[in-house]
Amino acid sequence: MTDEVTPGAGPGIGRRTALCCAGAAGAMLLAGCGGGDEKPKDLSGREIAKAADIPVGGGKIYPDTKVVVTQPTQGSYKAFTAVCTHQGCTVGSVSGGLIKCPCHGSEFTIADGSVQRGPAKSALKEYPVRAEGGGIVVI
Ligand code: FES
Repeated sequence: MTDEVTPGAGPGIGRRTALCCAGAAGAMLLAGCGGGDEKPKDLSGREIAKAADIPVGGGKIYPDTKVVVTQPTQGSYKAFTAVCTHQGCTVGSVSGGLIKCPCHGSEFTIADGSVQRGPAKSALKEYPVRAEGGGIVVI
């Protein structure tokens, strides 16, 4: 096996080795981010949160169902996928009116899921919901 030297890869590191490592690092990054798990669950008709658990001007993340439920204004509830549109991490926190992804810093508004800060380029998918009997139910 010949191992030619790749410019910029450093002494003794061949092209094949460099490509292998880059691929492995990419795979690990995706695995760590939960990449490939972007398919939204069918939550139609399900109660996904208790209204009392959702702070006004904030929200709560539900990792099991991969949704984030927000209450931008008193009595107005929204629900979005908790899967970041950048590389598929589950968003990590809600504060200051923003849903924040811990992986690369993307931020989305609690009002409509639109991108406020990249690298994500597209909004979080919204689930239509209604408040019903103290719960938040996907329509
Ligand atoms: S996966 Fe969310 S910012 Fe990259």
